[in-house]
Amino acid sequence: MANITSIRLLVAEDVPQVSQHVRNLLSMQSQVMLLEVLTDGSKVVEAAQQLRPDVVMVDLLLQGKVKGPQLIENLRDSGLDVPVVVLTVPQHPLERDPSRGIDAVLTLPFSGFELANILARVMTDRQSRAAGECRVISVFSPKGGVGKTTIAFNLAVALGQLGVSTALIDGSLQYGDLRVLLKVPDDVPSILDLPTDRVQESDVRSVMWRGPAGIDILLAPPRVEMAEMITVRDVEKTISLLRRLYEAVVIDTPTSLSEVTLGFLDACDVILSVVTYDSTTIHNTIAVAEAFASIGYTTDKVRYLVNRADSSGGMSRDDLARALGHELDFEVVSDGRLVVQANNEGTPFVVVSPDAAISRDVRHVASTIAGRTAGAPVRH
Ligand SMILES: Nc1ncnc2c1ncn2[C@@H]1O[C@H](COP(=O)(O)OP(=O)(O)OP(=O)(O)O)[C@@H](O)[C@H]1O
Ligand SMILES: [Mg+2]
Repeated sequence: MANITSIRLLVAEDVPQVSQHVRNLLSMQSQVMLLEVLTDGSKVVEAAQQLRPDVVMVDLLLQGKVKGPQLIENLRDSGLDVPVVVLTVPQHPLERDPSRGIDAVLTLPFSGFELANILARVMTDRQSRAAGECRVISVFSPKGGVGKTTIAFNLAVALGQLGVSTALIDGSLQYGDLRVLLKVPDDVPSILDLPTDRVQESDVRSVMWRGPAGIDILLAPPRVEMAEMITVRDVEKTISLLRRLYEAVVIDTPTSLSEVTLGFLDACDVILSVVTYDSTTIHNTIAVAEAFASIGYTTDKVRYLVNRADSSGGMSRDDLARALGHELDFEVVSDGRLVVQANNEGTPFVVVSPDAAISRDVRHVASTIAGRTAGAPVRH
């Protein structure tokens, strides 16, 4: 468990047997200090303001004037920035969803070990977020049609499935591929509506489109000419704002190396360069790698993802790696039938067909980026 000595816990629970259970479990260990158990949901936000707990635990089924779900929302909107662990029962299953203020879920009955572990985890998550440990990944290629949008969308959803709070930015500002893919109406806000001067979480949430697996999507403007209104400065501000609110940000970056595209590439931690076994793609990718080197990007900032890796047209992976002057970090197989159908329906294939080889490949990219698994980066 993490290096946590004492966790100050506030509990909102109106069932005496449950609060007794929590008290009993906590009495057996010294890491958690129980500040108070409140039975009235309407008093919790004020108590949290005064007591400044490290974690608040809320029973989803809390009754009274302010019920469990309302209290979770109130805590999220209070600006307290305190992690919330939600208690529930098997009959009311609930998904962890940090953007809705649900940082962790504990299902009754749970052991003291589970309780202590969950508390330590939400604390560590919060600390690493506070330390700015957000991964920003640009999915890029200097060649169109290689699968950037498909990979970016499914990678973001796969990160969400791993429990990583994730934002996806449609950086294709002119054509807005994600708006089309997800069939989002034109009146849904875009990056243009983001108030980059303020840093309120609620402002951000109001312009994000809720996607599958709890990911939040920042759409491109609905009309081509509006793209010009976005400046490099807006891009920088947007990324630094999202860094504070999410554990991962994935950007579907456009093909053209415009100033705004460079803004995205500069601001990210990892450029996931999508390549295919196609001579013009390889040629452009090499040219851009040289440009990246001259800009001063370090070699570990750029990672190579071979899309349609099983359609090599006779070229070996060693030849490709040699041509790129870099090892191939990830491989994603072709699956025309699944990808076209999922994209046409606006659904991520990692959700509709989790066992397909292509979904496993994308999940591997996600877990490597999230640092949740070790091991070899590519399948041979
Ligand atoms: N691994 C794959 N297997 C099969 N088809 C794929 C795969 N990846 C992408 N495709 C298909 O390739 C086409 C282009 O994909 P996508 O739109 O994601 O590319 P893009 O790089 O974002 O294109 P653009 O440059 O136009 O933005 C789509 O029809 C998609 O269904
Ligand atoms: Mg695209």
